[in-house]
Amino acid sequence: MSKVAEGWTQRCVGCGATYENDVRSYVCSRCSNLLELVKKGRVSKSGLYGEGGQPGIWRFRKALPLEPDVKAVSLTEGKTPLVLVGRIGAKLGLKNLYVKNEGQNPSGSFKDRGMTVAVTRAVQGGSKLLVCASTGNTAASMAAYAARAGVTAIVTVPAGKVAAGKLAQVYAYGAKIIRVAGDFDAALDITLKVAAEIKELAVMNSVNPYRIEGQKTNAYEIFEQLGFKAPDYVVLPVGNAGNISAVWKGFKELREWGISSSLPRMVGVQAAGAQPLVEAFQHGRDSVIAVQPKTIASAINIGNPASWKKALAALRESNGMALAVADEETIAARMDLASSEGIFVEPASAVPLAALKKLTGKIEKSATVVCICTGNGLKDQESVKVQLDSTPLVADPEQLINLLAKTA
Ligand code: F0G
Repeated sequence: MSKVAEGWTQRCVGCGATYENDVRSYVCSRCSNLLELVKKGRVSKSGLYGEGGQPGIWRFRKALPLEPDVKAVSLTEGKTPLVLVGRIGAKLGLKNLYVKNEGQNPSGSFKDRGMTVAVTRAVQGGSKLLVCASTGNTAASMAAYAARAGVTAIVTVPAGKVAAGKLAQVYAYGAKIIRVAGDFDAALDITLKVAAEIKELAVMNSVNPYRIEGQKTNAYEIFEQLGFKAPDYVVLPVGNAGNISAVWKGFKELREWGISSSLPRMVGVQAAGAQPLVEAFQHGRDSVIAVQPKTIASAINIGNPASWKKALAALRESNGMALAVADEETIAARMDLASSEGIFVEPASAVPLAALKKLTGKIEKSATVVCICTGNGLKDQESVKVQLDSTPLVADPEQLINLLAKTA
């Protein structure tokens, strides 16, 4: 396996063992916990934010674990808008509520941030066959970056549980789709077991620590967009638990490198039918008990999150909170965000806003709160029940004039 880039090491999040070469299984050979990439030394503020001429999140290259001369497989990801959502904020009694609209990434989700780094690293090491298990977005993202790199992509998806828009993307990008009888957890389990046998397969799930490195850039951007200030709270959906770990890592680095003087509190939100991490956090447990997941927010229909240990640490270290929301609350929040602010997100991306409704009184009115809305609403259209049959149908201008006269 490739040597870790100069100035970096890989460390086990369980026992702290370090590795100077990439580990194919992504887990510690001593204790089987996941690994994380650690930068030796610090990056300065001007070093982090001053990199011109690099595409997408590669402007943060000095904080990414690849040698400077490695050519990035990029689709110009990141730089997504941070939108002040005043109308929703007023309803929730929050003066400074923002949405980080990750649905504006190239494949329509935050996954692109991590995928550009993981695919670049895999291709650098000579991989030609990329694989992932997915509830849809990871698959779409990996397929896009594989196409960009000119390598083959294979995705495993839980049969009958992925939104049609995401499958359409995967198909169009030219990846091979394999359905797994079972949930995402089964798909990931099978995929990791097979990848352990077949060494040509490079796994692009968020157990791959290069994914986490790309996704942490969201923290760098939020910090910059708030005028070089960390928010008080970051609220985000949790599925396989990679993203909460990544965003927390980004904020921690800003603090460790002396760029930020404060850290946000992380608020992890799951769907009521798939909330193993919330349960573990609320009951003060040191591990997660897997559940049989069931939620309309198919992206986070996950019962056994792989990055649970990193995520629990993020919640505890940040003095954070974890809570679950019912599917009806998620759908209401999704429609409210679209109709009040013009931001259309997929169901999983609405769980942070649904959760804020339940946190009234727990978050100060003047706090700066950032909700990470992870995926574009167009990906999951079937969960919006459009009543087309009850809308008017006209055939000439006169009919339209009559109709408008009636409505006015
Ligand atoms: N939001 C969306 C839209 C997602 O697609 C996912 C994860 C998450 C939130 C949760 O992020 O897993 O890092 O905690 N989707 C993965 C996938 C599982 O396969 O696309 P996480």
